[in-house]
Amino acid sequence: MSISFKNDKDFDSLLPVELRQKADIHFSPIDIIERSIDFFEENNVSNVLDIGSGVGKFCIVGAHLSNMHFTGIEIRQSLHLVGQNILKQTKKTSVSLLNMNITEVPFGQFDGFYYFNPFFENIADDGQIDNKLSTKVQNFNHYTTYVEIALNAAPLGSCLASYWTPHSAIPSSFLLIDSFGELSFWRKG
Ligand SMILES: C[S@@+](CC[C@H](N)C(=O)[O-])C[C@H]1O[C@@H](n2cnc3c(N)ncnc32)[C@H](O)[C@@H]1O
Repeated sequence: MSISFKNDKDFDSLLPVELRQKADIHFSPIDIIERSIDFFEENNVSNVLDIGSGVGKFCIVGAHLSNMHFTGIEIRQSLHLVGQNILKQTKKTSVSLLNMNITEVPFGQFDGFYYFNPFFENIADDGQIDNKLSTKVQNFNHYTTYVEIALNAAPLGSCLASYWTPHSAIPSSFLLIDSFGELSFWRKG
């Protein structure tokens, strides 16, 4: 059986029931993924990092839309395992999903980044995906600063798609190219 992802329901139907009702808020909509992939392709990106990849939706759908390689880093083991299971069903070899903290990952080998406000739960009053992580303001500052420094070390010409991420979290080495609501495209000058 070949799997296609024409709309969000196609992907959500592969999720465990308890995650389906959270998917709208926590995982990227297909049209946002499509626009981001178009931006990466226009800029000849080949190796994409999703910073906080959840169940791997961005990476897995992205791999169905393009020939780029995708790496998704997810701190929650439960989400990582769901993603691995979906990935296995799609048989895509151009996706690597890893269960790690983003602070363990250097960014130098990537030339495309997707940044969907992954650390917000550390400063939010409610709406966390689950209560298994200890969330605190110090984590928000630590992770955000790590990403800023790591993005500064990314190659010139690297592209970044940010979604619901405050522009203040993007280092000034990245220039804003375009914005569509909460989705913004950046390129390292
Ligand atoms: C808003 S969700 C986005 C998921 C995915 N990028 C997508 O677009 O569908 C952010 C994810 O980042 C993960 N996350 C939070 N802090 C992290 C960290 N320090 N390292 C790796 N992942 C993290 C959360 O567990 C959550 O799954």
